[in-house]
Amino acid sequence: MLGIGGGIAAYKCADLTRRLIERGAEVKVVMTEAAKKFITPLTMQAISRHPVFDSLLDPTAEASMGHIKIAKWADLMLLAPATADLIARVTAGMGNDLLTSVSLATGAPIAVVPAMNQQMYHATVTQENLATLTRRGHLIWGPASGEQVCGDIGLGRMLEPLKLVALIEEHFSDNDLDGMSFLITAGPTREAIDPIRYLTNKSSGKMGYAIADAAAKRGAKVTLVSGPIQLATPTNVERINVQSAEDMHNEVQRHAGQHQIFVACAAVSDFTPVQVADHKIKKKTGCDKITLSLVKTKDIIASVTAMTNNRPFTIGFAAETQDIEQYARSKLTKKNLDLICANDVSRKNQGFNSDQNALHLYWANGDKLLPLASKIDIGHQLVSEIVTLFNKNK
Ligand code: PMT
Repeated sequence: MLGIGGGIAAYKCADLTRRLIERGAEVKVVMTEAAKKFITPLTMQAISRHPVFDSLLDPTAEASMGHIKIAKWADLMLLAPATADLIARVTAGMGNDLLTSVSLATGAPIAVVPAMNQQMYHATVTQENLATLTRRGHLIWGPASGEQVCGDIGLGRMLEPLKLVALIEEHFSDNDLDGMSFLITAGPTREAIDPIRYLTNKSSGKMGYAIADAAAKRGAKVTLVSGPIQLATPTNVERINVQSAEDMHNEVQRHAGQHQIFVACAAVSDFTPVQVADHKIKKKTGCDKITLSLVKTKDIIASVTAMTNNRPFTIGFAAETQDIEQYARSKLTKKNLDLICANDVSRKNQGFNSDQNALHLYWANGDKLLPLASKIDIGHQLVSEIVTLFNKNK
């Protein structure tokens, strides 16, 4: 239940709602009268896909005690932006509009997301109200510090939607993977040709990072060996940066024995130049061609499955454009994997450098399709499938 107060940060609620729904949450919205001056109920209705609740005195809704129904429906009540006025009314236990009435009537945890001018935030009464709410067991998320719409600089900015999503996920996480450990590779590799040129591919790292994030959110210990990409490191993930296939191989070898599960999601270069030129390769007059001699890189995943001590449960990926099942199953056997995740990288809007993916999982005596969804979603589903298979194979 998203309770929107009347502050300029209300505009962030549209993005927040979209991102929560993307992660599988159902979001219903209650707005104060003042909130409707900053963002329209129509916008919130369209994004949340539910009618917006805004009136305590709506005879149709209240015929069936609407505010009590809404209050019972919620698993979490998020007051965002929580203005100084909204915080004061909630602290005082008032029920003079629908939002405060629902806050009073709900049995769900309430997270207060303060957003106001820094002076109002530091005001003694606001601080005392927040202290009272904390004592009562309300969660207080934020505020962040920075430049404010009024020109002031300081504490009082509403937390960004992605940060709130992370806090909500953390709130609901039951840490069921506490005690498990994952080693994950992600992103492309770079194979140097000379000091300024290299061979690489289109991997963005999003798929591998989503898997790392999903496992860490459930309490697993996660080490992420990452090719050169700009993505932020997921919370509670140890990241090791590498450049080449050789670097990735070395880091994976160093860590594999200390993890129960290895997921090789990186798009590792299959070939690397035989020699790296010491200086920039120059054009020569009269010479329109050069030949680059390449040699096979070490197969990182095959070196892991060949381990005789502490071999982790090993999951590979197969990036295919045709005969997907046949190629995926052949990699499963040849590389001696426990599970392979095949993606059709010939399709638009999935696979390399996209926010979405679909995976077909194959293992020795089964298979399962994870249909097209955001990589974040696929990451969560995949971690669940991996853990189920891992536990069966123990
Ligand atoms: O990074 P994104 O933009 O989010 O895109 C995700 C992805 C498409 C890169 C990802 O889903 C994926 O398919 N990763 C594997 C890509 C790949 O290199 O596939 P492959 O079929 O060439 O390799 C098979 C397996 O062997 C992979 O697990 C790969 O990590 C591993 N391998 C490959 C070469 C090598 N030298 N060592 C390896 O371990």
